[in-house]
Amino acid sequence: MSTTTAGNAARDDRPTTGGPADSAFVRACRREPVPHTPVWFMRQAGRSLPEYREVRAGIGMLDSCRRPELVREITLQPVRRHHVDAAILFSDIVVPVAAAGVDLDIVPGTGPVVAEPVRTLADVERIRPIDPADVSYVDEAVRLLVGELGNTPLIGFAGAPFTLASYLVEGGPSRNHLRTKALMHGAPDIWHALLGRLAEITLTFLRVQIAAGVSAVQLFDSWAGALSEADYRRFVLPHSAAVLGGLAGAGVPRIHFGVGTAELLGAMSEAGADVVGVDWRTSLDAATVRIGPDKAIQGNLDPALLFAPWPVIEAEVRRVLAEGANTPGHIFNLGHGVLPETDPEVLTRVVALVHEASAS
Ligand code: CP3
Repeated sequence: MSTTTAGNAARDDRPTTGGPADSAFVRACRREPVPHTPVWFMRQAGRSLPEYREVRAGIGMLDSCRRPELVREITLQPVRRHHVDAAILFSDIVVPVAAAGVDLDIVPGTGPVVAEPVRTLADVERIRPIDPADVSYVDEAVRLLVGELGNTPLIGFAGAPFTLASYLVEGGPSRNHLRTKALMHGAPDIWHALLGRLAEITLTFLRVQIAAGVSAVQLFDSWAGALSEADYRRFVLPHSAAVLGGLAGAGVPRIHFGVGTAELLGAMSEAGADVVGVDWRTSLDAATVRIGPDKAIQGNLDPALLFAPWPVIEAEVRRVLAEGANTPGHIFNLGHGVLPETDPEVLTRVVALVHEASAS
């Protein structure tokens, strides 16, 4: 695939009725009427599923992301099992960074680990922009999936510049983001060069997925909640806005999500998404006020509550649906990803309950 094809992400040949563009999920993203509240789960494909653990046995995480047939199988598993309203491409946020030449690995039980953390301008300059050909396996996996999913939409995704930068600067997962914040405040020129480069890589990566046929994209700024609103606005928002704004004409809804972002929801909404994801700490009622009336909302059942007895889960699902009903455009999800120990049968039951309780 050529750069021009992926760069021109607009898909004006999409049907206006039928197909994934007319699914409950995409309609809710656009704040159009829906037959039921659509539901999917962040990390729905993953360790909670025995069939996932089986196909992943003996294959490293990054290696798995580069095998289109395996990505196809893992992405479809939760759709078959839970009847969710959308599939999400199986991958990881560090895949495009590895494609850009950064030496990193995903260590089981830890997460992404970077061999040489990024601290200087020379380190930033070694992260090269990516070409669509660098991630041809993603293009291939998306095309396989779109061919098979029929009317079920496929969500593409990427990590937002700040969350990616946190892994690169810290060298791995971090609780306090010490070195990240030290670089941001101590060397703003290096910081902005790093985030600018990551935004460029992320934009190319999402355009490849859109050109290959995904029906929506989600930009994960999972760790943005570590920042004050002032720091978020100064050091992060312009770069996330470059990614989301760069996709404005692409013809697919853009979802933006972070954890612990109660104080940031207003600022995050300014970054240019069509849908804002909310964690479980903020009620959807309160979140809607902060996000504003012109966006759809996604969330926000506490993933830990899936370990409570069913009557508790049922009451919580109904509460989230009632709070979401005040906004045109609610996509039911968890407030963060499915925890690996979750009983998959509970997830299947939650999907059925959301569909039944919200059917109009
Ligand atoms: O979750 C699983 O069990 C599947 C396998 C897996 C993924 N990433 C898939 C993934 C594993 C083991 C990882 C490693 C990883 N990468 C971790 C987990 C460390 C661990 O062992 O518990 C983390 C935290 C990362 C970094 C990362 N990847 C972040 C911060 C995000 C954004 C979403 C989030 O959880 O905040 C990702 C995206 C990611 N990794 C997805 C998947 C399937 C996203 C798509 C989705 O929501 O399904």
